[in-house]
Amino acid sequence: GPRVAVLISGRGSNMAALLEAAAAPDYPAEIALVLSNRADAAGLAHAAGRGVPTAVVESRGRPREAFEAALQAELAAHDIELVALAGFMRVLTEGFVRAWEGRMVNIHPSLLPSFPGLDTHARALAAGVRLHGCTVHLVTPGVDEGPIIAQAAVPVLPEDTEAELAARVLAEEHRLYPAALAWLASGRVRLEEGRVVGTLPAATGALI
Ligand code: GAR
Repeated sequence: GPRVAVLISGRGSNMAALLEAAAAPDYPAEIALVLSNRADAAGLAHAAGRGVPTAVVESRGRPREAFEAALQAELAAHDIELVALAGFMRVLTEGFVRAWEGRMVNIHPSLLPSFPGLDTHARALAAGVRLHGCTVHLVTPGVDEGPIIAQAAVPVLPEDTEAELAARVLAEEHRLYPAALAWLASGRVRLEEGRVVGTLPAATGALI
């Protein structure tokens, strides 16, 4: 299967879920690189411990163009064909995004188009929504606006704290992301004229 780079900025629990899924012999993609824009990302040690090549391309203290040029060089050096953003907290320029059109996915901790951006769980609680969840989407220049591949929903319970809600969503992220990446890697779904086409499974989740 295609060679995938997983881009992280911190904990890397979604990356760990992808590595675990990709260890199965029939998984249709190979995680060939885990790359962080921060040297202190905890997920790097996990990936290295699993024998996966890692790289750091520091984003801090340099112009965006220099950062992205270094990022592209690292991806090219590892013959990467698909990019999976997994808690990667840098916004990428339109030029970079266009270069990976249809070949770069992101996981976002809300049911898009609700709650793009940051602090999604606190904002879901404040809004009083009864369903929340996560979304895997293709990356386009508009942040968190790309065509949706898959979503999973969880209930918001009356006494939920932000941490409880985040944990409930995160468990779904860890199920959803490996499945959605597999659909893209196998060609089951693809980008066509700005839309996701292919055999799209129904939404998954606790209530639907
Ligand atoms: C995840 O919840 C992911 O959906 C979110 O950050 C967390 C990273 O956790 N991503 C974003 O907010 C993207 N803007 P992880 O490092 O343990 O996978």
